[in-house]
Amino acid sequence: MTIGTILISLLAPIIAYIFYWVYENLITAQWNPLHQIGGPPVPGWFKNHLYPVLEPSISPKVYEMFVKKYGRSIRIRGVGPWDERLLTLDPISVAHVLKNSTIYEKPWQSRRLITSLIGCGMLSAEGQIHRRQRRVATPAFSIQNLRTLVPLVFRKGSELKDRWMNMIIDAPKADNDSNAPLSIDVCHWVSRATFDVIGLAGFGYEFNAIKDETNELFCAYKEMFEVSISQGKITRTMMNIYLPFVSSLFPDKSMRTVQRCQQVIHRVAGQLIQENKRKISDAEKTGSPFLGRDLLSLLMKSNVATDLPAKDRISDEDILNNINTFMFAGSDTSSLTLTWTLLLLAENPDIQMRLRSELLSIAPASAGGLESLTEEETRSLYDSIANMPLLNNVCRESLRLVPPVHSSIRVATQDDVIPTSYPVHKRNGMVHEGRRSVTVPKGSFVHVAVEGFNLDKGIWGEDAWSFK
Ligand code: HEM
Repeated sequence: MTIGTILISLLAPIIAYIFYWVYENLITAQWNPLHQIGGPPVPGWFKNHLYPVLEPSISPKVYEMFVKKYGRSIRIRGVGPWDERLLTLDPISVAHVLKNSTIYEKPWQSRRLITSLIGCGMLSAEGQIHRRQRRVATPAFSIQNLRTLVPLVFRKGSELKDRWMNMIIDAPKADNDSNAPLSIDVCHWVSRATFDVIGLAGFGYEFNAIKDETNELFCAYKEMFEVSISQGKITRTMMNIYLPFVSSLFPDKSMRTVQRCQQVIHRVAGQLIQENKRKISDAEKTGSPFLGRDLLSLLMKSNVATDLPAKDRISDEDILNNINTFMFAGSDTSSLTLTWTLLLLAENPDIQMRLRSELLSIAPASAGGLESLTEEETRSLYDSIANMPLLNNVCRESLRLVPPVHSSIRVATQDDVIPTSYPVHKRNGMVHEGRRSVTVPKGSFVHVAVEGFNLDKGIWGEDAWSFK
């Protein structure tokens, strides 16, 4: 090794560090106002804060520590030194970001990933396309329409209960001990029931997943969603985001699975759309109303309504993408919420007992139980359920303590000043007395920490982490 080579290998890291330091402390500090506010130190040159902020097993403690040290408007590091982000635990700031959806959009990176899986439905669309889809879908989600879906939710609940009862009866008993415990994977079964409900409520389709797991559309969705939430290789995810054409040209095993599932979904859900179209047009011709009450039928009816200008209608592809979106956005969220609620109740038997008596007080007196109720009676039962104070509190408290959507991210599409209700800390730890805003430059990411708010002791009190 020559002296020159030794010198270069010694100098290179020093020069790199000087460049990094100048970039970090002089250049970024000059142009990025986010650089001026308080936030945790970066643990290494190209390290970031994404893991502690996004990993639910540690994030509540991390948020608590951040608020104590840096206030409620916190600067965190994204993928590199150029990526300063705002993590806000200030209620006024969050309201500002979520209300101004034309300024704060979902980042194109997450939208691209979602779109590659389920197409561009309401979860990933932005701007005019999102507005058009929302407008057509909104009537389907009215409270009157949702109420008509209640009998089917009850029916599926009963079906699941019967299935569990039969499993208990049929379970082989060790040593003829009739009290031997039986384990039921509640999460798995509730997920099957949730698919059934969303299939019927969403697009009048019977997956029959409580009965068995053989329906091809059910298997396609299940497999596709499992692939999407499994921890894939980070390099592959990056390629899917930044070089999607390379990913499609050289698909790996996961991508081939997704493509196979998408083919099934396109074929089966595509047929559903065509059938619904035919029914709507037959109904128009004969003058008899089309009675489909599922979200797809209602969405398609609203899409052909005569008072809707042609430019505001959505295409068959948009409709298919939104069927996928209902499945994707509605299945895990609902089934995980229900599973956690059952667990929390099991851990709090006193509340479980009180809830049980509240529910029994309105249980139908007839011998046939829920199955023998007319639709009208079921609907009035729904009204009673909707007005049960403890049930309402249990649902809200469970969603608060274990929110199925941990957090969300938005990106500023223009420079903006975000108002705050709490003082903002400076980079040096001092408090900006009287300052009640944070300036974010165009392109900055803003983290909306749903779980951070839900578990915030400053808002809920010292017992914020318990189920109360
Ligand atoms: C416990 C159940 C649920 C929870 C906690 C939940 C939570 C959420 C949250 C937090 C968002 C906003 C995400 C963001 O902006 O980053 C969202 C959006 C959405 N959810 Fe749900 N959700 C649930 C059930 C459902 C169900 C059952 C459906 C449909 C059948 C559904 C359809 C949607 C759609 C379409 C969007 C996008 C709305 C838009 O951007 O206009 N969700 N949900």
